Amino acid sequence: MKLLQRGKAKSVYASGDGTVTIEFRDDITAGNGAKHDVLKGKGSLLNAINEIFFKELSSHAVPNHYFESISENSFKARKVDIIPLEIVVRNYSAGSFCKRYGIETGKKIGPIVEFFIKNDALNDPLVCKDVVVKLNVSTIETLNKAEKLALKVNNVISEFSENHGLILADFKIEVGFHDGELLVSDEITPDTCRFWDVKTHESLDKDVYRQSVGDPLIAYKEVLRRLSS
Ligand code: TMP
Repeated sequence: MKLLQRGKAKSVYASGDGTVTIEFRDDITAGNGAKHDVLKGKGSLLNAINEIFFKELSSHAVPNHYFESISENSFKARKVDIIPLEIVVRNYSAGSFCKRYGIETGKKIGPIVEFFIKNDALNDPLVCKDVVVKLNVSTIETLNKAEKLALKVNNVISEFSENHGLILADFKIEVGFHDGELLVSDEITPDTCRFWDVKTHESLDKDVYRQSVGDPLIAYKEVLRRLSS
């Protein structure tokens, strides 16, 4: 298969039939690649968690790129023209929100939607819709659609997670067009979401790695165990 793109933790291949194959590698990175490790088995864990969430979206008719898992660590998806934005939905304060606004972690703040332009050299700056439009990154119509889509994803994934003992504190999605339709793309995993234990608010996501407070594989296995039970 032809490699189309090698990201920090995933590789995208042309499947040959017009679809793409997305492979979760065992790489884990933080701080825009400043920290990097390889955790054996991480790719297959994320592939399994991602499958659960995208199937949940499909069962609620939320348009998305996912077809099916095709190996332990890869899945088949529609090829989309990705909009170079990270769309973040926050239910509880955490991460860059706390740093930016001087707020403590764990306050109910949402749902609120933020847009970040994907640009490693600029560290993905936070932008408002007007700036996205002025920079010709997207149109206001598409941004409004993307925002609605992100909030739908939040409803579906929050409820599902909570039913399995996990608070969805925040997450990031990417969206793209396929045949004129805006689809949720990329991944929905503990690499791109903050999951907290419902009772203790213990982190079960990439914060374990970002903050070096434990073994991320143990957290990811626990997320998969809960979502599968
Ligand atoms: P943040 O608090 O660092 O802005 O992150 C918000 C959420 O978005 C968090 O769940 C992690 C996710 N995220 C990514 O998946 N990729 C990224 O590059 C960034 C900045 C955040």
